[in-house]
Amino acid sequence: MMEWKMGKALKVLSLVLVSLALVFGTGIEADAKKKKKKIELTEEENALFDKWEVKPKKRAKTVKDMRKKPKYVGAVKCNGSCHDAYYQAWTKSPHGGTFNLLKPGERKEAKLRVKLDPEKDYTTTPLCLRCHTTGYRQKGGFKPAGSKSKKGKDTASKIDPEEPNKEQVGCEMCHAVAGGSQFRAVMKASKGNFTKAETEHYGQRWDYANVCTRCHTHDKTPFKPEVHDKYKFNFEERKLKVHKIADYWNEDNADQKLEKKDDRAKEVGQTEKTPLLIEDFKITDKGKLKFKKGTKPYNSKKKTFNYK
Ligand code: HEC
Ligand code: HEC
Ligand code: HEC
Repeated sequence: MMEWKMGKALKVLSLVLVSLALVFGTGIEADAKKKKKKIELTEEENALFDKWEVKPKKRAKTVKDMRKKPKYVGAVKCNGSCHDAYYQAWTKSPHGGTFNLLKPGERKEAKLRVKLDPEKDYTTTPLCLRCHTTGYRQKGGFKPAGSKSKKGKDTASKIDPEEPNKEQVGCEMCHAVAGGSQFRAVMKASKGNFTKAETEHYGQRWDYANVCTRCHTHDKTPFKPEVHDKYKFNFEERKLKVHKIADYWNEDNADQKLEKKDDRAKEVGQTEKTPLLIEDFKITDKGKLKFKKGTKPYNSKKKTFNYK
């Protein structure tokens, strides 16, 4: 009896030992794999980091974000500890409230004029979402109510009325080619000490007068200049209304003033010399928004930019 018990105890013990060895064994292997995967920086990347005085420890993580395919991150991320005055001003600006125009009862007269139903809820209508939200139907972009993953999980973007984000026309609709994730990493790493060319390489655009036509006067907007004089688009006049930041500087965000802005203004970016393509799109028979081939400003396979 006693012997049998001993035998069983030994068996159990050896089982435990074997499983421990397995667990730790694979742990060590995984560690080794991680070490092998260590990111090698290119000469160009290291040169940029030297210029921006990025600590060696931080380089691998930053370069990972810069190399990943661009995606939309939302205005709240641009605020963070970097662009508070711009963000606060934006929430009160016309672009910080564009989603709300899609709700029933909003701007009845304007909707009636273009034969839209003023009592209809357009907050999930693909056509409207393209120009009234951030990055709709693109990586990381806004997802309307009712959006589901293949497994049926709710993937709709959370909307917080206190903190406007991807549901409005955010920063990235004017500043990004295909989302701001890459150049956000550049901005953080360089602490604002970057040139136009450097962020253009990572998907920022400086062709402001051009980018407005993603929406204003675009072939697909119901609110065309022919409909009403107020939809005529004079860039120089309108530009002045985009960032009314003057009243939004305070003690807490004073250190976020852009020291290199004037230097950058002297530089002419590639996107200013050769403006990027403006997307055209259609609504398919299934009611989905599809960008037309040959009109996209970024080719994510080839990682190239497409100019007009
Ligand atoms: C191609 C882009 C585009 C599409 C598509 C689009 N809009 Fe707009 N919308 C705009 C722009 C740009 C303005 C601002 C025009 C201006 O003030 O010059 C605007 C303005 C509006 C306004 C305010 C008009 C006013 O005079 O007060 C409403 C309401 C509106 N859109 C609703 C919608 C709805 C509903 C849809 C979908 C059926 C839609 N939009 C589709 C670009 C678009
Ligand atoms: C409707 C388009 C539009 C949107 C939306 C927009 N911007 Fe801008 N932004 C511009 C234009 C045009 C300029 C250049 C004129 C100016 O400085 O006012 C600019 C300039 C800037 C600059 C100065 C850049 C430099 O170095 O010269 C910063 C910073 C900036 N925007 C941040 C933001 C942030 C943060 C948001 C979102 C909270 C945002 N923008 C949303 C159009 C836009
Ligand atoms: C992604 C679509 C989109 C882009 C890109 C865009 N806008 Fe708009 N813009 C809108 C919509 C939608 C409205 C309507 C807001 C409203 O009527 O409340 C609007 C309204 C405005 C208004 C307010 C109109 C008024 O007088 O009250 C100004 C000014 C303006 N845009 C300037 C610009 C400029 C300048 C650019 C380019 C740098 C630009 N927009 C790019 C969608 C866009």
